[in-house]
Amino acid sequence: MKVIDKVQEMQNIVNTHRKRGERIVCVPTMGYFHDGHLSLMKLAQEYGDVVIVTLFVNPTQFGPNEDFERYPRDFQRDYELASSIGVDYLFAPTVEEMYPDGYSTKIIVNKFTDKFEGLKRAGHFDGVATVVTKIFNATKPNVAIFGQKDLQQTLVVRQLVKDLLFDIDIVIAPTVRESDGLAMSSRNVYLSREEREVASQIYRALQKGLDAINKGITNRDVISSYVQKHLSKFPQLTVDYVAVVNSENFEEPAEFVPGENVAILVAVYLGKTRLIDNIITKIP
Ligand code: PAJ
Repeated sequence: MKVIDKVQEMQNIVNTHRKRGERIVCVPTMGYFHDGHLSLMKLAQEYGDVVIVTLFVNPTQFGPNEDFERYPRDFQRDYELASSIGVDYLFAPTVEEMYPDGYSTKIIVNKFTDKFEGLKRAGHFDGVATVVTKIFNATKPNVAIFGQKDLQQTLVVRQLVKDLLFDIDIVIAPTVRESDGLAMSSRNVYLSREEREVASQIYRALQKGLDAINKGITNRDVISSYVQKHLSKFPQLTVDYVAVVNSENFEEPAEFVPGENVAILVAVYLGKTRLIDNIITKIP
């Protein structure tokens, strides 16, 4: 695996591969790899000939009071993990390389960004859309892979690709979980032992919503109340939001209809750590 830290060098390399007719697959990440990231990298190998993983903790998608500074970083460990599963290139630019002095452009996706993560984390999706655009231009992929774990991000990226005519197929990979159901996240390392134990209740709460749907409940508020009720049993958890939405357009009808794809979204605080998760199901 080759490590590349300059945009120009990355572009030269992908140009060479593209001239040979090889398909490029890109997996954008902020590093501190866990099995969720690694599953995306493995999936990437099925979609093309050359796999590029990007590792960049993007400052523009963090709010001023968020965890950019303390976001976990371990380049050596990430290098070894990506290398061991057959990634071809690790593109790991510096902040100065991505946002040099005088940098002055922002990409704003207006659809899907006015609620949930976009509302709670002002400017977050502008930062994501901007850096994803830059990553796409640096790595020129045929295919890019994103995780369902960040479901709203996948809608924003799909909209970005559609609106800006990126000739890139977006693939969404399933969420990888710990054995107790907690969705893997780089931020899980922030949790104390006690918080880590309670964190598994997020998935349990999502399952309660799923149970309600499988029982035939189609009312959005009622489904949501099953999830909320479970979370409220754990005083260590502070709910940021619980939402039940159409998973394709994030609309929130009062009643869902049979066959509709629905996502249950949860964001909670455990101490200072903010965790998100979701599940998607079909209304029977
Ligand atoms: P990061 O949080 O590092 O996640 C990188 C990719 O891994 C994202 O597509 C995310 O959805 C996926 N992922 C995270 N946890 C996962 C899990 N448990 N199972 C499966 N996939 C998982 O998301 C970002 O970085 C950034 O916003 C980025 C897109 C790189 C732009 O900076």
